[in-house]
Amino acid sequence: MKHIRNFCIIAHIDHGKSTLADRLLEFTSTVAKRDMQAQLLDNMDLERERGITIKSHAIQMQYPYKGEIYTLNLIDTPGHVDFSYEVSRSIAACEGALLIVDASQGIEAQTISNLYLAIGADLEIIPVLNKIDLPHAMPEEVTDEIVDLIGCAPGDILHASGKTGIGIEAILNAICDRIPAPKGDPEAPLQALIFDSVFNSYRGIEVLFRIKNGTMRKGDKVKFMATGKEYGADEIGILGLNQEPRTEMSAGNVGYLISGIKEAREVKVGDTITHVNRPTSEAIKGFADVKPMVFAGIYPVETTEYEELRSSMEKLQLNDASLVWEPETSVALGFGFRCGFLGMLHMEIVQERLEREFNMTVITTVPSVQFHAIGTKDQLLTINAPSEMPEPNLIKLIEEPFIKAQIITAAEYVGPIITLCMDKRGIIKGQSYLTSERVEMTFELPLSEIVFDFFDKLKTISRGYASLDYELIGFREADMVKLDVMLNGEKVDALSAIVHRSKSYDWGRRLCEKLRELLPRQMFDIAIQASIGQKIIARETIKALRKNVIAKCYGGDISRKRKLLEKQKEGKKRMRTVGSVEIPQEAFLAVLKID
Ligand code: GTP
Repeated sequence: MKHIRNFCIIAHIDHGKSTLADRLLEFTSTVAKRDMQAQLLDNMDLERERGITIKSHAIQMQYPYKGEIYTLNLIDTPGHVDFSYEVSRSIAACEGALLIVDASQGIEAQTISNLYLAIGADLEIIPVLNKIDLPHAMPEEVTDEIVDLIGCAPGDILHASGKTGIGIEAILNAICDRIPAPKGDPEAPLQALIFDSVFNSYRGIEVLFRIKNGTMRKGDKVKFMATGKEYGADEIGILGLNQEPRTEMSAGNVGYLISGIKEAREVKVGDTITHVNRPTSEAIKGFADVKPMVFAGIYPVETTEYEELRSSMEKLQLNDASLVWEPETSVALGFGFRCGFLGMLHMEIVQERLEREFNMTVITTVPSVQFHAIGTKDQLLTINAPSEMPEPNLIKLIEEPFIKAQIITAAEYVGPIITLCMDKRGIIKGQSYLTSERVEMTFELPLSEIVFDFFDKLKTISRGYASLDYELIGFREADMVKLDVMLNGEKVDALSAIVHRSKSYDWGRRLCEKLRELLPRQMFDIAIQASIGQKIIARETIKALRKNVIAKCYGGDISRKRKLLEKQKEGKKRMRTVGSVEIPQEAFLAVLKID
């Protein structure tokens, strides 16, 4: 155990974590040169296509140092704010963290938030100035920023390039020298923390754990404390590039367990594994509950696939502990699930993973934040969907969630950013200069104003030179109304939204315009109406198609005809018919494209 080091790599998005992890794997010969591919640990197709880390990934390396062989368990973590729950869980399995800062960018919002998570968990921090090969790297300035942020000596900061390989050996040495060995007693009753799990269709459910105390052996009878269920440890092992079975693993180590678990809901991330015969009296403190930021319905495109969707969601949830959901019924869409997400990127990723990994075709409905309503008898009602909004005469007031946002940007963009935040009903709380050029600003803003497209706007007005991090700070009274949408006189509950009264008319008008663009024309006129209560506030009409589209391709151009048909078929994929009107997926997300 003296020679085990458990560490994670944390950073702001794109500062080079995954690339640096590649170099560590290469240098320690964990991966042979011929097997090397860029961002090796980002092994999900989606991660590769998007060039981002979505999941944390654990891998074990062996490293000879000062005449000893060290076992290094590395956990690569995502940088995007939507996945910070992944980061906090990974941190619980480690004693140290490499804090990577891009030498050409400096400290960004998630550098700070991830650093605080690591400090909160008492991790030893090794700051690394990365991408020093870049011609526009600013090592002195960024060193100053790091020193100010963590209060280390400039000499504690390592210089590296994940691209050229500079500084990799020094990082490995620092991991051995500076990060403490795990504590824990291999002879004590078993206590192992489940920090992740994966559904594998061949091998069943795989559980990833970190042993705090005790020793787990292949064949042991183990118990999951939260569920009380007992299993045989059929296979245990370490996480190399592939899983490597072991007969025994002790305190301080990180590994996987396969034990014939069939039901996804039997595994809870944050649960403690112990022995049936010699159980520990104490479960390890699990993880704080996730606080979803955005809620939306997920419905199968084919109503008959409801049960299949439920089992797919359970399996996905194993690997995505931040996804929460419960059954929901919509008048328009039938049976589905109301899901909570950590942000819009998370929502998109969940939809894509359901489609790719579980072969489901789903519709996600209009996203919304959670509101609170205080009833006439002072009872608190939580509203996760517009359909749950009580009639105005049944409530005293409505409260909306507020966040504290931290924005780091270049001095020249301060003015436009303040204007943007004011427009979003924000209040500026503070402003301080990190250097003469870079400013950190703090705002309080309604979550509903920032969760959808705020970040895109922020990036546009700052030409990419702004980073954002936020956390919930509570609920505040707000004048919100429910805006309904009717198609040919029929209310479509899945298109309703809760909006601020001051913006509701404008919102209704633009939503109708957007829907007019997004709904396909049909053989009859479609009336689109927006209403608040009984009052119609906006209206648009989609004129009927007079002829079949195919008729347009008069004459013989068969390939054009086929293309058109194929296009129509593709469009069908994510489409639901409500009453007689076909609604494509984009229409449910129209609210995101307003203003
Ligand atoms: P997320 O996991 O999505 O948060 O990103 P990341 O921090 O893992 O960053 P990643 O390793 O994917 O690198 C981001 C980009 O920076 C890629 O285009 C890399 O090729 C580039 N990059 C990474 N390290 C270096 C470096 O040391 N020098 C230079 N010049 N480019 C680098």
